[in-house]
Amino acid sequence: MSTIAAADPLNDSPPADRDGLAAQLGIDVGGTSIKGAIVDLRTGQLAGPIHSAQTPGTATPEQVSALVRQMAAAEHWTEPVGVALPGVIVGSCLRHAPNLSSAWEREGALDRLRTPGDAEIVLINDADAAGLAELTYGQSDRPDNGLTVVLTFGTGIGSALLHDGNLIANSELGGLAVDAVRFEDVASGRAISDDELTPAGWAERAQPYFDQLEAMLNPGRWVLGGGLSESFEKYSSRLKLSKPVDIAHLGMHAGIVGAAAAVERSGLSGRPSDRR
Ligand code: BGC
Repeated sequence: MSTIAAADPLNDSPPADRDGLAAQLGIDVGGTSIKGAIVDLRTGQLAGPIHSAQTPGTATPEQVSALVRQMAAAEHWTEPVGVALPGVIVGSCLRHAPNLSSAWEREGALDRLRTPGDAEIVLINDADAAGLAELTYGQSDRPDNGLTVVLTFGTGIGSALLHDGNLIANSELGGLAVDAVRFEDVASGRAISDDELTPAGWAERAQPYFDQLEAMLNPGRWVLGGGLSESFEKYSSRLKLSKPVDIAHLGMHAGIVGAAAAVERSGLSGRPSDRR
């Protein structure tokens, strides 16, 4: 794994030597922070420093666009950029993005995202990005056991459905309600920290939602990740699930890696990755 250093998005250091890499810039816009890095598409590993900035309180399209531009400029990046967003991409706007400004719901909001050289931007839901990263670089040696449900626990709860090598996009399982209480409102990473939940306390809240999801979707495997990935096992191990649970292979960088992989999937990267 490459050395990862935190960097200021305005720090305009010269780009690392990208010779021999299938390099692609991926940016993950979260409700709390925006992070971007160059990814080597052959391996799914980060191939440079992570540029990170706090998501502005108001998180308007213009503010997020300015940060995307700064991150691309810091990497001297003039090619298409992959951007993962915490909402459902519908045409030129976002739906179900409670952690960003409501301005994202206006028609044309997504057109405000721009790179310094006006290169194309490939958009993907953030949890779908994590799912795509898992699909592309995750545990490919696992026998296919039907539906894989990926859940990401961060400011919100995101989801991605993987089946037979395909991503089924825009699933939004964090919006599932049990007794009129939404999953995301009581069991996200934000809820863990705001309500100072212990692993047992979190599992008690989360279990009814997992029970519902098992009953409705019959997954063959769970993949849990998001901002909490690194410490998540102590929470997830408290759940009672009938199918195997894996912690997301790419941890908290899955959104960045998936955003980069989305560019390759769109055919815009021009950098064949010649993966494994
Ligand atoms: C959004 C999802 C997103 C999730 C994680 C939810 O609030 O509706 O689209 O994937 O947060 O960021």
